[in-house]
Amino acid sequence: MNTKKLAAERAVEAIEEGMTVGLGTGSTAYFAIERLGQRVKEGLNVRAVATSKRSEEQALALGIPIVPFAEVGQIDMTIDGADEVDRNLQLIKGGGGALLREKIVAARSAKMFVVVGEDKMVDTLGAFPLPVEIVPFAHEWTLDALKALQLNPGLRMEDGEPYVTDNGNYIADCRGVSIDDPASLHAELNAIPGVVENGLFVEMAHTVVVGREDGSLDLF
Ligand code: 5RP
Repeated sequence: MNTKKLAAERAVEAIEEGMTVGLGTGSTAYFAIERLGQRVKEGLNVRAVATSKRSEEQALALGIPIVPFAEVGQIDMTIDGADEVDRNLQLIKGGGGALLREKIVAARSAKMFVVVGEDKMVDTLGAFPLPVEIVPFAHEWTLDALKALQLNPGLRMEDGEPYVTDNGNYIADCRGVSIDDPASLHAELNAIPGVVENGLFVEMAHTVVVGREDGSLDLF
C-alpha cells in the first residue's frame, strides 16, 4: 500500500473552487500535486504557490497556475509532508531541504494539511535528524553553537560538497536528540546567529492525514 499517496490524495479532496493553495515538497507532496493537476484538468479553478523549485516545476507542467507571492494575501490551504509527527501534531520537516520555504508558506496559510504514511507518527520527535538551515558564512561557528547545545550536528553533504538549499544556505542535521519540548528548542535554535530556520514546526499543522498500510486513513 502506498500510504503517502493515500494520504496526499485525501488531502487534495479538501481543496475547493477558487482557493489559493500552498504546494509542499517531497515524495508525499508530489502525489498531492499530481492529484491536484488532475482536478485542474477536470475544471477546478485554483491558484498556487510552491515551496521549492521542483514543486513549482511539477505544478507548471501539470497546468496548475503558479502566482507571484506579491499577489497572495492569505493561502487558504497548504498540503505538505513531514518527516515526523508527534501526538500533539508538532512536526519535524526539512528532510528534503525545503524547510525554510515550507515554513514561510505554512505561516501564511489558514490551514496546513500534513500528509504522511503511518510510519511517520512518533511519540517523541527526534529519531529523525532535525534539519537546521544555516548561512554558509562562518558556518563552522554555527555548528559549534549547535554542538554546545549537545545537538550532534553534521553538515549535510551532496556529492562531496555541502548541500545547498534553494536559498543558498547549508543544512546541519542534528542526530540522536530526543525532543521533549519542541517549542523551547525551536526558540533556542533560532536565537543562534547564523541559524536561518529550523525544521521544528510547532503549532502549525491544522490537520494531519495519515495513510495506513491496511488502506484506511486517519485525520487528526
Ligand atoms: C522537505 C520536507 C518533506 O515534507 C519531508 O522531508 C517529507 O518528505 P517525504 O514526503 O519525501 O517523505 O520537509 O523539506
